[in-house]
This record gives sequence, C-alpha cells and structure tokens, in this order.
Amino acid sequence: MYKILLLNGSPRKEKSCTLRVARKFAEGIKDSRECSIEEICLADCRIKQCMGCLSCWGRTAGECFIKDDDIPMLKQKIMDADLIIEAFPLYFFGMPGTVKVFTDRMLSIMNTYEGQLPVEGTPFHGFRYDMSGKRFAIVSTCGYAQTDLIYDSLLSQLDCICGKENYYALLCPQGKLLSIPELWERMETYLEKYKAAGAELATTGELSDETIKNLRVAPLDERKFKILLEMFWRNEKSGKNV
Ligand SMILES: Cc1cc2nc3c(=O)[nH]c(=O)nc-3n(C[C@H](O)[C@H](O)[C@H](O)COP(=O)(O)O)c2cc1C
Repeated sequence: MYKILLLNGSPRKEKSCTLRVARKFAEGIKDSRECSIEEICLADCRIKQCMGCLSCWGRTAGECFIKDDDIPMLKQKIMDADLIIEAFPLYFFGMPGTVKVFTDRMLSIMNTYEGQLPVEGTPFHGFRYDMSGKRFAIVSTCGYAQTDLIYDSLLSQLDCICGKENYYALLCPQGKLLSIPELWERMETYLEKYKAAGAELATTGELSDETIKNLRVAPLDERKFKILLEMFWRNEKSGKNV
C-alpha cells in the first residue's frame, strides 16, 4: 500500500496552522487513492543535536553514532514511505529549530562528501540510498501576505539538499488566519485547493507548476488582511485564538 509519512514540524503541535494545511493535502490524496497516512509530531520526538562527528560519513557509514533517541525510528519511517510530507512554519525565513536539528541528523542519508562539485538541480552530494521512487513535499505557512522573497532562502537551502526538481513546495501565505476562530469556516473553503492538489498528485503522479503557483496565492487582499490581523492581535491579547 502507498505510504504517506506526515512529519509535523511546528512547535505548536496539534494547534499548528501548517498541520491543518498539510492534512488537507493528505486528505486529497487519500480520497483519490488507497494509502496509509502516518503522522508524527517532531516536537514530541526525542531528537538530540548532531554532534558534528561525521562518523555517519566515515566510520559507521550510513549510520548515526547517536542511537538512543528517535532518529533511527524516523529514518526508517522515511525509508519505508512513498511520500514524505514535511509540514512546518517559516521561522526567520527558514525552517524552525526542531526541523533544522532533525535535518542535521539526516546527514547519514546524504553521500559522504569527497570533493564532488555541486551540480545545479541535483542534491549537492547525492543520496546514499536509492530514493528514486519516493516523493518529498514541503508544506509551509508563513505570517507574511506573500511567498515571493520571503521563502527565497528556505527554498535555496532545500534546492541544495533535495535537488530543485525532487520536491514540491506547497507554500501558504497569511497562515495565521487559520488560527482565528471567526475565520474557520471561510478558511475551510480556502483550504480546498490544497485538497485538490493532493487529488492531482494522487491521480496524475505530479503537481503542475500552475497548481503550485496557485497554492501560493494569499486568501485575502492587503486591506482585508490588515483588518484581520488587527482582529488576530486583539484575540491574541484576550487568549481567544487557537
Ligand atoms: C520565531 C518565529 C519566527 C517567524 N518568522 C517568520 C518569517 O520569517 N516570515 C513569516 O512570514 N512568518 C514568520 N513567522 C510566522 C509563522 O511562520 C506563522 O505564524 C505560521 O503560520 C505559524 O504556523 P504554525 O501554526 O504551523 O506553527 C514566525 C513565527 C515565529 C514564532
């Protein structure tokens, strides 16, 4: 059976706006093809920091020296999955700390660096394992009203890690709107496009550039967004947001 692994990288765990978007995407896939979805919250996992020993590239090739945390389990789940969805909010124009620590610990998945020259469009020193059958999707929300410029640094980093064509980046601007209870119903309609994207991936095996571009369109225009941001901060002060 087609296996989807959904990694929730938001420190807000179940309250995460990004998780809500990612679940819609996964739901679209599930509605269109038989599959299993396993969800893991990285903030609930025990993930020690990379010690920088590089033994996973040398002495213990392919295996991390640290074995007493959840990384061996997570790595196995990645190797077993057909589609890995990594959902996380944008923090300071990059990935949140939990996700970065997790990414560092995945060094053993990459080939040992032996002076290879970077090749644009491919993972910079290639994967140690055969990842050719796997799909990788990032789902990320941000506070800003746009994704242009705001996501440039994260996407450059992911291009180098995964290879530009080897992952889909489903980006969602104005993500905080998803935590305003008064907007829940309206946002449900907006989220349908992520579900439709899931269905597209399941039925065609691809996501078109047009779909990816369309997912990056903000739900609200600037004027409405500013009004709702005021509402968000009012709610925040009274503890009403989720
Ligand atoms: C520490 C921190 C840094 C952030 N940095 C950015 C940023 O650089 N750009 C942006 O648009 N939003 C930024 N945000 C806003 C989050 O990306 C946004 O609220 C997101 O939708 C939260 O998703 P979550 O509910 O899944 O955690 C930041 C939030 C925090 C807490």
